[in-house]
Amino acid sequence: MKRIAVFASGYGSNFQKIHENIKYGLMDATLTLFVSDQKDARAVVYAKDHNITCFVFDANAYHRKSDYEEEILHLLKRHHVDLIVLAGYMRKIGPTLLKAYPKRILNIHPSYLPAFKGKDAILQAFDSGVEQTGVTVHYVDENLDSGEIILQEKVDIKGQSLENLTAEIHRVEHRLYTLAIQKVLEEMIA
Ligand code: GRF
Repeated sequence: MKRIAVFASGYGSNFQKIHENIKYGLMDATLTLFVSDQKDARAVVYAKDHNITCFVFDANAYHRKSDYEEEILHLLKRHHVDLIVLAGYMRKIGPTLLKAYPKRILNIHPSYLPAFKGKDAILQAFDSGVEQTGVTVHYVDENLDSGEIILQEKVDIKGQSLENLTAEIHRVEHRLYTLAIQKVLEEMIA
């Protein structure tokens, strides 16, 4: 069974969904480690409440990104993690982790990439006047929201309020991330 680490900085609804889907047998993996850079995040509370091994760090306590990534890497190795899943992790992944996990780090982004990269992607799309946006799961590389796409799905904007659109995007994310992770896991064992 492949071993997954999830990284999140915020609410953690995708993290929660991944955890539940593993528990209910919808994903063939073990959730081995949770990593966060925000000690007060709801995702951290969820991890602790569910007895998921948790590493929370303060990036300001380190001189360089490579210093905290070395520490994370040490933990990933100790827990024999095969795949890293970013779920609202608000930090750029540096060369330390990218080199150690080539094509083994996934991210989910709330737009139909390459459109609307970066922060507030749902709002960017909503304000732009386009008729559709979407959700993308992709591999992480050295650039922002740019790695090879694994799965994408479009979401209609037309006629929706920002609140409804946001809720719909999250519903799609929760379904699509599990499908994408499962697809990558199957390729890893093929
Ligand atoms: C999601 O919209 C995801 O696409 C983006 O960050 C958000 C995280 O939401 N990368 P949550 O913390 O999983 O609820």
